[in-house]
Amino acid sequence: MSSLIVPTNEISLTTDALLMRPRRLRRTPALRRMVSETQLSVNDLIYPLFVMEEEGKIEVSSMPGCYRYSLELLLEEVAQVYQLGINAIALFPVISEKKKDDTGSESYNPEGLVQQTVKAIKQAVPEIVVITDVALDPFTTHGHDGLVDENGTILNDPTVEVLVKMALAQAAAGADMVAPSDMMDGRIGAIRKALDAQGYINVGILAYSAKYASAYYGPFRDALDSAPQFGDKKTYQMDTANVREALKEVFLDVAEAADIVMVKPALAYLDIIHQVRHATHLPVAAYNVSGEYAMIKAAAQQGWIDEKQVILETLTSMKRAGADLILTYFAKEVALILAS
Ligand code: PBG
Repeated sequence: MSSLIVPTNEISLTTDALLMRPRRLRRTPALRRMVSETQLSVNDLIYPLFVMEEEGKIEVSSMPGCYRYSLELLLEEVAQVYQLGINAIALFPVISEKKKDDTGSESYNPEGLVQQTVKAIKQAVPEIVVITDVALDPFTTHGHDGLVDENGTILNDPTVEVLVKMALAQAAAGADMVAPSDMMDGRIGAIRKALDAQGYINVGILAYSAKYASAYYGPFRDALDSAPQFGDKKTYQMDTANVREALKEVFLDVAEAADIVMVKPALAYLDIIHQVRHATHLPVAAYNVSGEYAMIKAAAQQGWIDEKQVILETLTSMKRAGADLILTYFAKEVALILAS
């Protein structure tokens, strides 16, 4: 990433005579490639995928080009994206209403959809990095990421106990990394200790450290049928106005032994990505979320923007801000563009 130091004395010596002509380095494609400061690579991409219990595939209406896949079709998709050079997928389940309850108990069923899917992927495409989501919202009738008491309060410590069970079930199924996206306090440390105690010392933690209470998650909640049935997520996800709080969350997750920290969403939070990059030596991930995807797709469908160029420009901005990794529904499209 670029440094912020500007050698001002050089500039003041030469500007008068127009000796410095920045355009010299922009003259040809080869020159521009030579001095390009930021490279978007297929190695940076993590592909989020939706799996469902039903057969076939169903397009998510607010996310054109993204599907809920049956396990069988998901395996084909995973094999294909690994062929394209994508190293990792992030798995999200669509759980049928009859399996949801108040406490999200299906989340740690050893034979549950996520666990079955992880096992199947690890058989079919063992090399791909499988990242599983740790949060209760796909599994609860109320759609919140944690347990709720009679007053509608989201309970922290009892939720962490369930998240630990969920992470252990995912590790037992063969997940390479677990990714807590719930924003309960203390869950990274609790999960790390439990994984180690059970011998899963090599299962990593991708922490959704600075996750904001964002309106950009709307299409994802359509994809999972997981919109909260009452209230909002503002008592656990972060206030969109805050920067220092993001750094506090990152410091805590680093102290609790996270392997990778994440900022989410990405596009409206490039300043946060930049600050987090300077606050830790861990890899920093950014989540180019469903609403960011939907906006580009919608404008492109209208013919109002050049989709390919806008995708590349958007993801490059995240790298430039300091992200090492990008979770993006564009991963497959970008892999194809970069390979062409
Ligand atoms: C919930 C979760 C959400 C996303 C990932 N995990 C939504 C939410 O917090 O309500 C959003 C991802 C996206 O919008 O692409 N644990």
